[in-house]
Amino acid sequence: MELTLTRPDDWHLHLRDDAALLTTVPDTARTFHRAIVMPNLKPPVTTVEAAIGYRERILDALPSGMSFDPLMTLYLAPELSPSTIREAVASAHIQGVKLYPRGATTNSDAGVANLNGVMTTLETMAEVGLPLLIHGEVTDRSIDIFDREAVFLDKTLGPLMERLPTLRVVLEHITTEDSVDFVKAHPEMGATITVHHLMYERNDMLAGGIRPHLYCLPILKRSSHRDALIEAATSGEGQFFLGTDSAPHAISDKESDCGCAGCYTAPFALELYAEVFETHGKLDRLEAFASLNGPDFYGLPRNTDTVTLIKKESIIPLAKAFGEKEVRILRGGEPVTWSVI
Ligand code: NCD
Ligand code: ZN
Repeated sequence: MELTLTRPDDWHLHLRDDAALLTTVPDTARTFHRAIVMPNLKPPVTTVEAAIGYRERILDALPSGMSFDPLMTLYLAPELSPSTIREAVASAHIQGVKLYPRGATTNSDAGVANLNGVMTTLETMAEVGLPLLIHGEVTDRSIDIFDREAVFLDKTLGPLMERLPTLRVVLEHITTEDSVDFVKAHPEMGATITVHHLMYERNDMLAGGIRPHLYCLPILKRSSHRDALIEAATSGEGQFFLGTDSAPHAISDKESDCGCAGCYTAPFALELYAEVFETHGKLDRLEAFASLNGPDFYGLPRNTDTVTLIKKESIIPLAKAFGEKEVRILRGGEPVTWSVI
């Protein structure tokens, strides 16, 4: 069995920096032509100049013979000014601004504590049409971690959409039925869905032993939410598109007293998405999700080349080099039923 698709793109990706790029860039460029590159470096990417410099480092790490177009984002720090937004729109390489509620996830300390403080910047984004990409979780310690996404919709995103109805918003890595419903109720919005949130639910991480390599944020939820995500991803609906949120951390940082959040999915992401879509009898919808809906939402051309997958089982390697350390690959040591040729 063979499946040829328009070459896909990854609409939410962490490539990290420096030596890590020698692993992450080829792993993504092998199957994806473009990726929305997250700006949560240390220090975060808050200027157009820093984004362009980062893009150059990414391209320097691209092996010859591979093609890849990194689509850059700016990190919404409280001091990000409307003039930087105008400069970003004028640059050919910046496609969005990322909102991390302060303290929500990896490298979010410089994020936004209160949206009112960045309202003028958001108004400028609405005016010029630059998308806001949102990590949709509240950070209030009194809110249970499994409820943080749903509460964010109620308390933060709903009011924001009412206040700025023309702002273009992508709700990133959605993990709940609540988010699927919210996105459907706002037809102008987009949402990305990771492969790990389609494959796993919280018992996979917590029952029968704790599995730190499945720990990511937003955290895996109960299986009914996973089912709602599968339904949305395989629906063919234009609002939902592929975003791996591939987020590598060294094994020593994951298998630790206080382990980091993030799953390294990039090396076999497309193969794993194909497996999920096939399991649910929706392989014919994979191309819309992986290759068409994303560029249509961002107003970018669809890719013109293709990738081909064949039904051939292989074992995913357990880990690979990551700078001077190693990173575990999601589902490492286990089989995957599709291969990219
Ligand atoms: C991401 C990371 O490590 O940068 N981690 C994660 O669990 N997804 C940050 C993020 O997207 O939340
Ligand atoms: Zn992410």
